[in-house]
Amino acid sequence: MLPTIDWKDDTIVMIDQRKLPGVEVYVTCRTAAEVAKAIKTMVIRGAPAIGVAAAMGIALGMRRSIATGTRQFTTEFQKTCEMMAATRPTAVNLFWAIERMKRGFAESAQGGCSVDEIKKRLEAEARRIHDEDVESCRTMGAHGAALVPQEARILTHCNAGALATAGYGTALGVVRAAAEQGKKIAVLADETRPFLQGARLTAWELVKDGIDTTVITDNMAGAMMRLGHVDLVVVGADRIAANGDVANKIGTYGVAVLAREHGIPFYVAAPISTVDLDTPDGSKIPIEERNDREVTHVGPSRMTPEGAHVRNPAFDVTPNKYVTAIITERGIARAPYEESLAELASQAVKA
Ligand code: MRU
Repeated sequence: MLPTIDWKDDTIVMIDQRKLPGVEVYVTCRTAAEVAKAIKTMVIRGAPAIGVAAAMGIALGMRRSIATGTRQFTTEFQKTCEMMAATRPTAVNLFWAIERMKRGFAESAQGGCSVDEIKKRLEAEARRIHDEDVESCRTMGAHGAALVPQEARILTHCNAGALATAGYGTALGVVRAAAEQGKKIAVLADETRPFLQGARLTAWELVKDGIDTTVITDNMAGAMMRLGHVDLVVVGADRIAANGDVANKIGTYGVAVLAREHGIPFYVAAPISTVDLDTPDGSKIPIEERNDREVTHVGPSRMTPEGAHVRNPAFDVTPNKYVTAIITERGIARAPYEESLAELASQAVKA
C-alpha cells in the first residue's frame, strides 16, 4: 500500500504530493507547526488524509510539550488545535479529527490523568484515526464495487485515492475493490486543473496498481460521455451537507451535470466523517480560495498575462439532485439524503 503518512520514531513522515509523479520524496515533520504547514501547502491533501495528518500533528505537538502541569498543557493543546483548524477550511474531516482529539483530551483530563498519560492517549487516538480510515476505505470500496459493472469505464475527478486518505482511497477504493473482484476496469482520470491531482496523482496510483488508466483534460469529459466512453462517474468529497449536497474539487459540479445529461450514474464515495449534519445544505459550506499562482503558472512558467484577474476557488458544490448515490463505509445512501445520511450517521458500523 502507498505510504501517504506514517510515524517514524518521533517524527511524522509524508510523501510530498506536490512533487509526484516526478520524484518520490518524503517530508519529515518534527513539530505540529510543520505538520500544519504541510497541510496548508498541500504536501498532503485530500479530505481524509488532512484529518489524519491533523490528528497525528496534534499528538506530535503535545508529545514534544515540556509543560509539567495540566493547566499549561491544556493551553498548549488548545493553541495546537486552533493552528490545525486554520490550515484549510472546506474538508470537514479536518474539524472532525480535531474534535475527536479534543474529546480524547477532555476524557483523560477529567479522569485525572497526568500529562504523560494524556500524551499517550492522544497518540493512541491519532493512530486509531489513521487505522480506521484505511479500514473504512476498504469497507466503502466493497460496498461501492457492487455498483460497478463488469468492464466498466469509470470517470473520476481529482484524486480520491490512497494518497488522499491513510490508504486505499475512497473513489479509487471503489475502483480498486472492483478490480480486486476480477472486473476489467478502465479509468478516465480528469487532469483536474489547476493543481493537477488527476493527471499527477490519480494516474500515478492507478498505473502503479496496473489498472488501465487514460488521462484527459477537464474539458474533454463531456465529449467522452457523448461518445459513449463513460459508464459511470465516481468521485470523493470534502464535505457532504445534511441534504446530500457535495463539496468536492472544483470541476466536479460540471462533471455531475454532464453525467445527468448523458444518463450516466454519478456516485460519491466518502467516509461518514465527511458527512456534516450540522451544515444543512451546500450553500453553507466554506469554499477555500487558493493563491492566484496555481492558475497563472504551470511550474515556473507564467501562462496568463500580467494584469488579468484570476479566480481560484478550490472546490465547488454539486446539488444533491445530480448525485445518484453516496457510498460510505456504513452502506449506500440514496435520495432523500436528509433521511438516508442521518440514518447512516446514527448507526453503528456494520460488521
Ligand atoms: O485540494 P485537495 O487536493 O485537498 O482536494 C481534494 C479533493 O477534492 C478530493 O476529491 C476529496 O478530498 C476527496 S479525497 C478522498
